Amino acid sequence: MGITFDPTSKTLTLTTRSSAYQMQIGPLGHLLHLYYGPRAADCFSYLYPPRDVGFSPNPAALRAGRGWSLDTQPQEYSASLCGDYRLSSLEFSTDEGLRGADLRYQQHTVSPGKYALPGLPSARGAADTESLSVTLRDAATGVEVELRYGVYETDDFLTRAVRIRNGGSVPLRLEKAASLCLDLPFGDWELLHFFGSHTMERQPERVPVARLIQTVSSRRGFSSHQQNPFVILCAPDTTERSGESIGVMPVWSGSHETSVERSQTGAVRLVSGIGSADFSWRLLPGETFQTPEVLLSYSAAGLSALSQSFHRFLRTHVARPGAYDRPRPVLLNSWEASYFDFDRASILRLARDARDLGVELLVLDDGWFGSRDDDRRALGDWFAHPRKLPGGLGPLIREVCALGLRFGLWVEPEMLSEDSELYRAHPDWALTVPGREPTVGRDQLVLDLGRREVRDWLYETFSALLREHPISYIKWDANRNLSDLYSRALPPERQGETAHRYLLGLYALLERLCGEFPDVLFEGCAGGGGRFDAGMLPYFPQIWCSDNTDPISRLAIQRGSSYGYPPVAMACHVSASPNHQTGRSSPLGTRGVVAMTGAFGYELDPAALSEEAREEVRQQIRRYRELEALLRCGDYYRLETAAALPLTAWQFVSPDRRETLLSLVQTEAPPGPIPLHLRLRGLDPEASYRLIWMERFGCPDSAVAFPERWSGAALLHGGLVLPPMPGDYPSARLLFRADPGTPRTAFPTER
Ligand code: DGJ
Repeated sequence: MGITFDPTSKTLTLTTRSSAYQMQIGPLGHLLHLYYGPRAADCFSYLYPPRDVGFSPNPAALRAGRGWSLDTQPQEYSASLCGDYRLSSLEFSTDEGLRGADLRYQQHTVSPGKYALPGLPSARGAADTESLSVTLRDAATGVEVELRYGVYETDDFLTRAVRIRNGGSVPLRLEKAASLCLDLPFGDWELLHFFGSHTMERQPERVPVARLIQTVSSRRGFSSHQQNPFVILCAPDTTERSGESIGVMPVWSGSHETSVERSQTGAVRLVSGIGSADFSWRLLPGETFQTPEVLLSYSAAGLSALSQSFHRFLRTHVARPGAYDRPRPVLLNSWEASYFDFDRASILRLARDARDLGVELLVLDDGWFGSRDDDRRALGDWFAHPRKLPGGLGPLIREVCALGLRFGLWVEPEMLSEDSELYRAHPDWALTVPGREPTVGRDQLVLDLGRREVRDWLYETFSALLREHPISYIKWDANRNLSDLYSRALPPERQGETAHRYLLGLYALLERLCGEFPDVLFEGCAGGGGRFDAGMLPYFPQIWCSDNTDPISRLAIQRGSSYGYPPVAMACHVSASPNHQTGRSSPLGTRGVVAMTGAFGYELDPAALSEEAREEVRQQIRRYRELEALLRCGDYYRLETAAALPLTAWQFVSPDRRETLLSLVQTEAPPGPIPLHLRLRGLDPEASYRLIWMERFGCPDSAVAFPERWSGAALLHGGLVLPPMPGDYPSARLLFRADPGTPRTAFPTER
């Protein structure tokens, strides 16, 4: 049973395979958070003996002894102005001027299956999912807060979301509505978060939770390149292999806010949800506001285990059913091959060259529509560029398909250029502030997706495109963030809803389009990884990880992304050398090794390659097909290497642990003869493994004396020593397979 209520102690306990989460109805009806950690059946209220702390005030009914304060008791959903001075989860003001809330328990219900969040992306229920709903109420305003929990016992996951109802008699203005409040009583915690920029997304930074409020947030209307919404709280001694960690992942693609505060008593509070800056929502009596969902998982077995849980959960319960059941096509994208400079003949030449390499899908990127000769114009004019594609898209697509390739197309539906027919016809569809020059990003404005007529127009335009042409893949791009938050369709008192309504509109549009065209593979993109989040995964099973295609930069971007997101969701391409973003040169083989972490493809002009390089690409594609299932379904490990070793290494292990792919890239020439030593992960210690093949790129061949077989234990504990790899950015890739019929050696012996 995942959810239990003990009427004696008034505790509600959510139990998963290896974790327990406990709350308690306090003496006055406040919902207290008691515990989140390894599975245990006890009542944890003993952790919070009343204690008089100066300047922590008391509810009037508990004034005796002065020991009980909302400021020191752990809260399940914090509010303000009733004695808890720590981070608040809920802020509002009523039209009568009331603010703050004293939230008290009303009722709870347990039901089989998963609660639904209409209009919002969320995790689907598993066979063993149960839901809990707990209603709290503030008597003064009548505001009701329904805390919703999904308990995934086998998956070791909890989901949380909150529904706020104006149960009072006057309208109110919601100013903050978090999805999750998590109070952790003791211990030192560190915050692992993922910062970045355009072309350098999701760089991990691990900082102690200090005695101040630390906030990971975006107010860009997008989850952002700059601060990804996924965070991990972990113990200082947590490594990839061991230690405690808690992952918090909003299923939300807009502005977000996760704050962590260490209080005067040393307790840590984390509050996560939609960004409260630039947000407000008018709630009339009887109306409700539904927050997005947040995914929560606890692991006592290190960061790799936590990441793998998130990977499995997102693949199985958040992405569309079956999204990862089929092999991904190897695609070639025209962007870095020709940018805006192409015509039908050159794209057909690209398609022929791509087919000759073994590519399956040709993607025509930006520049195919309206008068789009550069990035200053024509967004919104979704008809074929008359000079580049005379006769329209139809003849080109037919010819590409006749070559035996599938066809994919780039679109940027959410945006429009001022220099476009769409803007001239509907200037009020753009988000702009009356009387103020609009802020432009890449010379474009943002469509007000909160408006139904805008969404309907987009739906008609893009569904017609998909109905008229055999398009197998759509790259859905979005190349600026929201700024001028003013909707011409909303009254003044609702302008604070603009950005939130934009996101709800985007989800509704995607739901409609992706639902109607389930066989089209939609890839998400926002100038690379500017909207790489769990809210996008139900629509986009793969997301362009970054506009930076340099393999060495990508090592860090992809590794950072892997803490929360499955590698199969990262679109990764081999591009030209020197790289167009960084100017760095790297071996073609290394570019292949790095791109073969996720959804694999190319972004270069094959005609610019030598015949030898083209042959190498053919070989890469054959390799990818061989490895595809392992990359798509395997468990991913970030390998730890000695500090002195300039190596980035990672490993995929098949679910049955019989097969593993080890990949490594040397990011600097090592200063001396340091052995390239790595310990593998995830193998069956009892099994006997054989090296099936090893490939090295960008370094001279060298003879390797490996044992014929290793035990899993040997590879796990002793590890592997590889010969040095002199050269610039060399890499290696090794495939091991367990052979149940063969004897194994206890420990590797050099031959
Ligand atoms: C940004 C994307 O990330 C690129 O891959 C490319 O599609 C350009 N936009 C096109 O404008």
